[in-house]
Amino acid sequence: MGPPGAGKGTQAKRIIAKFDIPHISTGDMFREAIKEGTPLGKIAQSYINDGHLVPDDVTIGLVKERLSRDDCKKGYLLDGFPRTIPQAEALEKLTKEIDRPISYAIDIETPKAELIRRICGRRVCKVCGAPYHIETAKPKVDGICDICGGELVQRPDDNEEALTTRLSHYEESTKPLLVFYKNKGLLKTFDGMVGSDNLFVELCALLEGK
Ligand code: AP5
Repeated sequence: MGPPGAGKGTQAKRIIAKFDIPHISTGDMFREAIKEGTPLGKIAQSYINDGHLVPDDVTIGLVKERLSRDDCKKGYLLDGFPRTIPQAEALEKLTKEIDRPISYAIDIETPKAELIRRICGRRVCKVCGAPYHIETAKPKVDGICDICGGELVQRPDDNEEALTTRLSHYEESTKPLLVFYKNKGLLKTFDGMVGSDNLFVELCALLEGK
């Protein structure tokens, strides 16, 4: 959990590599569908590029199918889902049905000015999706992904206008989920300003039960 730019994707990629579990990022799944030009991609594109949320029924159906696959039996990491109360309620029902309950709702808190700085300076690998930043997380070779050698590009929704819309959806629809998970005793809050490496150490300690 966390607003755009909090560092969800950055930490998620490190966590799944360490714990060898699937990374279920609804944003990545939508972007993949857009790239492939699938019917899902066509629906998603009309919302994502302007910063709006994709409708709940579409998003829930996508996650339902993904979570029911065998590779989620040993654990999974959701990134960017749920984002609305109906999505959280659907997730609760679904995880009961497949007997794979969630252990934690991890929230990364980051001030708004820093979110704007991070999003406007973010570049992502066109091939593997790895995130970089033009000032604070530069690749070794300008414009080239360190991991796979892919080209680094700016996401179409990483502009100030779309970001304003994304932040308002976060405030209105997603932030109420923090109370939802707090009331269930699942919410774990982390400071997104401690640096990416320090945050990863803190998250690993939680996930390893230290
Ligand atoms: P999604 O892809 O989930 O985007 P988002 O939530 O807006 O989050 P971001 O990917 O922008 O940020 P992040 O927190 O992952 O930050 P990152 O690690 O990259 O969703 C995109 C769209 O898809 C949505 O707007 C919506 O349209 C649709 N969608 C997705 N899920 C949906 C759902 N459930 N329901 C409906 N619609 C849905 O880091 C950002 C930058 O900061 C990088 O440059 C990075 O290098 C840098 N950085 C990261 N961590 C740190 C740190 N600790 N210190 C300094 N810099 C850092």
